[in-house]
Amino acid sequence: MPLPSPGRFSGTWVVLFLAISPSIFHISSSRYLDSRFEVKRRHLREKVRDMFYHAYDNYMIYAFPHDELKPLTRTFTDSLSELGNLKLEHLPQDYNGSALTLIESLSSLIILGNHTEFERAVFWLSENLNFDVDARVNLFECNIRVLGGLVSAHILATDSTIRFVQGSYMNQLLILAKDLGQRFLPAFETPTSLPYAWINLKHGVMVNETTETSTSGCGSLILEMGALSRLTGDPRFESAALRALRRLWSMRSSLNLLGTTLDVETGEWIEYSSGIGAGVDSFYEYLYKAHILFGKEEYWRMFQSAYLGVQKYFRYGPWYHEADMRTGKATYWQLTSLQAFWPGLQVLVGDITAANSSHREFVHVWKKYGVLPERYLLDHQIVHPTEKYYPLRPELAESTFYLYQATKGL
Ligand SMILES: *[C@@H]1O[C@H](CO)[C@@H](O)[C@H](O)[C@H]1NC(C)=O
Ligand SMILES: *[C@@H]1O[C@H](CO)[C@@H](O)[C@H](O)[C@H]1NC(C)=O
Ligand SMILES: *[C@@H]1O[C@H](CO)[C@@H](O)[C@H](O)[C@H]1NC(C)=O
Ligand SMILES: *[C@@H]1O[C@H](CO)[C@@H](O)[C@H](O)[C@H]1NC(C)=O
Repeated sequence: MPLPSPGRFSGTWVVLFLAISPSIFHISSSRYLDSRFEVKRRHLREKVRDMFYHAYDNYMIYAFPHDELKPLTRTFTDSLSELGNLKLEHLPQDYNGSALTLIESLSSLIILGNHTEFERAVFWLSENLNFDVDARVNLFECNIRVLGGLVSAHILATDSTIRFVQGSYMNQLLILAKDLGQRFLPAFETPTSLPYAWINLKHGVMVNETTETSTSGCGSLILEMGALSRLTGDPRFESAALRALRRLWSMRSSLNLLGTTLDVETGEWIEYSSGIGAGVDSFYEYLYKAHILFGKEEYWRMFQSAYLGVQKYFRYGPWYHEADMRTGKATYWQLTSLQAFWPGLQVLVGDITAANSSHREFVHVWKKYGVLPERYLLDHQIVHPTEKYYPLRPELAESTFYLYQATKGL
């Protein structure tokens, strides 16, 4: 089978709003085995803490306030505006980054109970973070990472059951999130209500901007933008994301399948073949998580039809290939690292048997290579990596965590 060109979008999958209850980590230890497990659990917990601080402290030393640390050279990237944006023509000369890793670390600082560092970070961000920059950013990436980082940290910081806030938190993260959300809105001003994939934070949609976007680009905005509306009382964010999602859903085929790329001006599909990996993945994830977060039946109905379509047309045993949305016929047998979110989603849905069998295959691939290859082909059950790198994706870890919580390793 031929390999299609790699998608423009990596469709990173984020953990949002879920699994944030500290009680989920509490396991009673009445029996001997339990107490041995308890020792191991404490050991692993300390290991996670050490790994977090190793990454965080070195980012703060070598890269902050730039966006990301390059650990081998101890230098940095400014990935907020570099994400897929090879031409950096719109970045000011003296641009110092947006402290993206710090924003993404806020919720971890809360979960680890580090008040002082959280307060220091919030103070720095509220004094220095500025979204009024002449930078072309990817709406999807900026939404899941920056808006998602700000909104989820705000929710955790103000969660009275966690009792984290010591008094100095004054909604600074929400104020930043609202400013950013407003800069997203011009992207949605299209004849179809489907948003442009790229937006300039200062100037809005650029002249001659590409009209091509992906299913995940249009369909993975509702969690962050919906939460922003609920928190600020300003309905514009949720409305824009919901209109886009409804429009996208209206473009499904009679088989309840969607394609991978589309045009936001004409509302026509560009790539009719799709699967559950790159370019589509988080569309499914957000439908179901939106149902959990907002409790709206509409999301559940869309999700249910979409999920059944996937199980019917993409599934082959424990694997998921790609298929043409119009005919349901298999197109590509390429698999991507991003697909590893699927068993986690299946756990949330309650389809544990399917989750278990799909998860097992991903773990086999992981064990064979030590990581999941970014892209691989499957030929008679033999895996052939075609893109041999692993950008620290969290999908398999999150699926494993959910599956473990659901089965306790049974
Ligand atoms: C970047 O940092 C330098 C040195 O601190 C400062 O002079 C400059 O104003 C900063 N640039 C921006 C765009 O904030
Ligand atoms: C919080 O984080 C900072 C920076 O890594 C560290 O110096 C400090 O010890 C941490 N505090 C706690 C209570 O873990
Ligand atoms: C937009 O693209 C058209 C066609 O390529 C070109 O003629 C025009 O100059 C471009 N406009 C700008 C502002 O770049
Ligand atoms: C998962 O699959 C394995 C192998 O088929 C089986 O032994 C195990 O019982 C399954 N677990 C669940 C929770 O279905």
